Amino acid sequence: MNILVIGSGGREHALAWKIVASPLITRLVCAPGNPGMAALGETRNVSAKDVEGQVALAREIKADLVVIGPEIAIEAGLADRLTQAGVPCFGPTASAGRLESSKAFTKVFAERHGLPTGRFAVFEAADPARAYLDTLAAPFVIKADGLAAGKGVVIAPDRATADAAIDDMLGGRFGAAGARVVVEEFLVGEIASQFALCDGKTSLLFGGAQDHKRAFDGDEGPNTGGMGAYAPAPVLSDATVARAEAELIAPAFAGIAAEGAPYRGVLFCEMMVTAEGPKLVEFNVRFGDPECQVLMLRLESDLVPYLLAAATGTLHTLPAPVWRDEAVICVVLAAEGYPGTPKTGVAIAGAGADFGTDVVVFHAGTTRGDDGALLSSGGRVLNICARGATLAQARDRAYAVIDRIDFPGGFCRRDIGWRGLAAAAD
Ligand code: GLY
Repeated sequence: MNILVIGSGGREHALAWKIVASPLITRLVCAPGNPGMAALGETRNVSAKDVEGQVALAREIKADLVVIGPEIAIEAGLADRLTQAGVPCFGPTASAGRLESSKAFTKVFAERHGLPTGRFAVFEAADPARAYLDTLAAPFVIKADGLAAGKGVVIAPDRATADAAIDDMLGGRFGAAGARVVVEEFLVGEIASQFALCDGKTSLLFGGAQDHKRAFDGDEGPNTGGMGAYAPAPVLSDATVARAEAELIAPAFAGIAAEGAPYRGVLFCEMMVTAEGPKLVEFNVRFGDPECQVLMLRLESDLVPYLLAAATGTLHTLPAPVWRDEAVICVVLAAEGYPGTPKTGVAIAGAGADFGTDVVVFHAGTTRGDDGALLSSGGRVLNICARGATLAQARDRAYAVIDRIDFPGGFCRRDIGWRGLAAAAD
């Protein structure tokens, strides 16, 4: 099979890494890709948002399957155009993609279909949004309606911070994505990421992980796209996953199909596991980043049949995926300044060494300089992933590799997996 992977982050590097391990693959093309993906297959300099460019590339390489990594390509309608062009595509239509591209749509959708979630209201003006805060207890959750690369969510500890976040978003910080804000009740519990595939009719659970959203150790600092993840996460017990499937995931697939937009691809259910059970935090219409990196290292089964089946309506023919009986951790190495303005163009040494079969370094925000040197080019730069018989072993392997990488100004959290490690110590 010829497969085109769209995107350039750590998530897409991990997908490409697992795809090339499949005996079904003949040719892998990544667009635009990154230096890590270039080591696995061909890369083409076509932006993920360039819908016509990606369709032309899929035709040129006679793609049997296109795998869409990032949400920006889904919002741009790439899956719709590929389907029109007769190319099998893993990723939902822009209409189904509203489950991520509009937080207001999703909260109203959840209410309409009876999915448990926190109390909320949607605003286009600051004064009523501030007045709504009077009905909630701190901390407050303020979200820009549209896509904001994981930076459009503020957990405000007090009224002044919440008021400022509302003004900032409605004042244009995220452009059109911030034209509306969602003000939400803060849910108390433990956050978890559960994934499920759907082919429009049949759905299949596809693993889970626990992310670390805050920038600094101890879950301090600003929200990020995710500073690290691990699996298996104790919070995702069989009982919790069963409830999440019954109360959040299955109704979401049924609801979006009933509204005329059957879902094809992976749904990322970000939930708060509360004392009353799992409640929806938000849906994303792609794999999580860095959760995907963890899933790909843990997945024993061949990934390609699952991606193809979701794209072509044949998921009912596949068994549940098989996972390795090991723990996996992913630690994000980020650039100085992230999640604000990251310093780019910094030389990175030591990331390409052979770290053995249990460690994989995925590239995210990297590029090659004219002399071939590896340089940072984004906020989250490298993802150091490791497997182990225990989570502690996986963690030790990952941090040992991080300590061998020279990335001036780069930083990572040193406590990734802390909840899982604490549970193991009990
Ligand atoms: N790690 C969270 C996300 O991908 O949105």
